[in-house]
Amino acid sequence: MAQDRTGEVSEAEIAVHWREEAYVRAPSLFIAQANLTDPAVFDRFALDKFPECFKEYADLLDWHKTWDVTLDTSHPPFWKWFVGGRINASYNCVDRHLQKYKNKTAIHFVPEPEHEAIQHITYQELFIRVNETAALLRDFCGLSKGDRVTLHMPMVPELAITMLACARLGVIHSQVFSGFSGKATGDRVVDSESRVLITMDAYYRGGQLLDHKEKADVAFDEAKKAGVTLEKVLVWQRYPGRYSAKTPLVEGRDFIVSDVLPVFRRRRVDPVKMPAEDPLFLMYTSGTTGKPKGCQHSTGGYLAYVAGTSKYIQDIHPEDVYWCMADIGWITGHSYIVYGPLALAASSVVYEGLPTYPDAGRPWRIAEELDVNIFHTSPTAIRALRRAGPDEPAKYHYHFKHMTTVGEPIEPAVWRWYHDVVGKHEAVIVDTWWQTENGGFLCSTVPAIHPMKPGSAGPGVPGIHPIIYNDDGHEIPPRSGHAGNICIQNPWPGTFQTIWKDPDRFVEQYYERYCKDRNSKDWRDWPYFANDGALQAADGYYRILGRIDDVINVSGHRLGTKEIESASLLVEEVSEAAVVPARDEIKGKTPDLYVSLKPGLRASDELRKRIEDSVVREIGAIARPSHVVIVPDMPKTRSGKIMRRVLAAISNNEDAGDISTLANPEVVAEIRQMKR
Ligand code: WTA
Repeated sequence: MAQDRTGEVSEAEIAVHWREEAYVRAPSLFIAQANLTDPAVFDRFALDKFPECFKEYADLLDWHKTWDVTLDTSHPPFWKWFVGGRINASYNCVDRHLQKYKNKTAIHFVPEPEHEAIQHITYQELFIRVNETAALLRDFCGLSKGDRVTLHMPMVPELAITMLACARLGVIHSQVFSGFSGKATGDRVVDSESRVLITMDAYYRGGQLLDHKEKADVAFDEAKKAGVTLEKVLVWQRYPGRYSAKTPLVEGRDFIVSDVLPVFRRRRVDPVKMPAEDPLFLMYTSGTTGKPKGCQHSTGGYLAYVAGTSKYIQDIHPEDVYWCMADIGWITGHSYIVYGPLALAASSVVYEGLPTYPDAGRPWRIAEELDVNIFHTSPTAIRALRRAGPDEPAKYHYHFKHMTTVGEPIEPAVWRWYHDVVGKHEAVIVDTWWQTENGGFLCSTVPAIHPMKPGSAGPGVPGIHPIIYNDDGHEIPPRSGHAGNICIQNPWPGTFQTIWKDPDRFVEQYYERYCKDRNSKDWRDWPYFANDGALQAADGYYRILGRIDDVINVSGHRLGTKEIESASLLVEEVSEAAVVPARDEIKGKTPDLYVSLKPGLRASDELRKRIEDSVVREIGAIARPSHVVIVPDMPKTRSGKIMRRVLAAISNNEDAGDISTLANPEVVAEIRQMKR
């Protein structure tokens, strides 16, 4: 079984007990129109064809200059793809489509309030708006290639426009999920040393127009305290020409984008011919320490990989209306709302609000209205929609050919509801396993080639060659059904290049564990360690069991337990903190926070509330603990280590196993009593 190095049992063991499910075949109508139907693709992408096989993905793009070397391995594990090539991501997602598709919708924007009209932005209009915004960033903000900009924007088309404007200039964007707090945004401004913060005044969520600008003020102040002073804060308006936030603007620092833009009307900005290996963006994610890490993604390799997987795994054709309900603030949104679909000239839906607002029929009304035929979401959203409106999909006349699930394991029963009720037996499902670090999918069935199997992601996608190791570094026999730590044997173009400003951590966290020879310049000696447990069934499909490090997957969103613990430790009274995952019917997992207080202090509701507030302030509401339990003492080993395993057992009403070796076994019953 997958265990972390401290000997604590991983959180995902229940999934291993799911039984093997029967195959479900793709409808023939789907296969007849699919982009990828030839099983020979797996020969073309076999390990002995590596790395040249990935030319097939790079050829989906327009290059200003073709690359000289497909893969440079001279400085492992800092792989370099398509070296010598020059390319621009904005050009590939916008300009190159104009000739054929200028009148086609690039982005359908669906506001949360149902009475507001849907906006349909054509490729021509996207071209104009991206150019004008790029001119503003260049000439008003003085930004150029290599500069960093932090975006803290909600789900609006201006977010995609801003990203593409940055990409046009070679400016590295770092979008922070809008649900993260001002403090969390400020931390990311500091780490990336951003010169400019771009935000929006307000947005709708659950029927309320939220003041979002107030978070920018917190971010600015926090960054300044840490020695990084933002030069400007740009504020898009949810309703252009009308300021919708209560928080006032700061003279000389904050600028309303729609006030400045008129100066740049009709301006065109030549796309900068970027070296393929220059970074396109940073995406911060949680890991084993309290500090989020900036995953640095490349321009050429990343774009090639998301274009290839969008075409072959998502089966996107330019004619399709594609809706990924994730947030652009996560990697899924970057790769599979913005860069992948737009590189293929698809029409991509951007929905502002909650899937269940005002009721669980909303997604299906949107699908019907826009005639969406590819749908992409997470198990958490599927579970929530199923609970709130199990019969809703049947009421609406939409037809999906293809559906995706991503972010967490999906229970077979939930998978079946997705397939039978949402997909109306007409759609294929791909269960895609991957991570912020990876850029794009790692494991999935190829929808017209492999049958689906509920509860399993599938084999490695073309060009991805997984391997499972046990804790001692030995390979677990392929197709044995035994769990271990999943790794990828080979590099791939979508992989992140490093952790921003922390190359040592990059090597240590992802490559050191299973590296065969530190001095080797052969990629074969450097498997990528994903930090997930997995098993491979006899048919070659992988089932992902969950994180083996200190990461909790809440509603498919990655949170570091250490981040939540650090936030609670900021409350003066708190002496020690431990976060463990508790199973949740809808969200998959939620964080339970256990704290002990400094000597002589007493628990109170007021204190519990302050602890909770501290977590929300430091990280954001998504990290709010489901319970804050103030305990008399943490269960500890004799060497003083907090036994999170025991706390997790209490949170999940399970047997804590042998606790006789604890220094204080008596607290276990006491805490269990408190938790009731
Ligand atoms: C988990 C999201 C099971 C996994 C794209 C991984 C999954 C973490 C799946 C990454 C899946 C993602 N089945 N588990 N199909 N997809 N995961 O970085 O534990 O937000 O390590 O990237 O989500 O989360 P991240």
